[in-house]
Amino acid sequence: MQFEGIKEKTLVIVKPDAIQRGLLGQITSRFEQKGLKLIGTRMLRLESVILREHYAHIADKPFYPGVEEFMMSAPAVVQCWEGLDVVNTVRKITGITKAREAEAGSIRGDFAMSVACNVIHASDSVETAKSEVARFFKDGDLYEYDKTDYMHVYIEEERG
Ligand code: PPS
Repeated sequence: MQFEGIKEKTLVIVKPDAIQRGLLGQITSRFEQKGLKLIGTRMLRLESVILREHYAHIADKPFYPGVEEFMMSAPAVVQCWEGLDVVNTVRKITGITKAREAEAGSIRGDFAMSVACNVIHASDSVETAKSEVARFFKDGDLYEYDKTDYMHVYIEEERG
């Protein structure tokens, strides 16, 4: 696996259940408070074609039609977060898929009960993150900027 350093990126989808329940702000805050850098975000209503691509690994499972219906039931918000080891960090903050068993303190552990309505999706590896970020963001949709608190979030060696 290539070392991406502080520029590693990951994709988060804040799912329709979180939008309906008014959890967008609290979920986003968890990542902000951790020290991660938001470099892209937009709201969209997901469509069948992009969902089939995104969920190709589960498209033949019996529960897939329900996943698609749920993911299209209201708008979602996609976010691209950047940081050192951000893929693993975001997965840890997210908690496991079966939300009612997710660790307290994680987003799913604190906000969700279901395996499907589990409030967010997060990329599961650096490789997956690359293709998932590219699926939802064109180059011009991602922002480069100096995050002024980085000198307090990382030591110099970690900033690279
Ligand atoms: S798998 O089968 O290991 O790939 O499953 P996983 O990666 O944990 O889950 C992939 C997404 O499928 C959803 N999911 C389900 N939905 C409905 N019913 C059942 N039983 C079910 N199992 C998994 C789950 O919400 C995952 O969505 P994401 O967006 O990846 O969190």
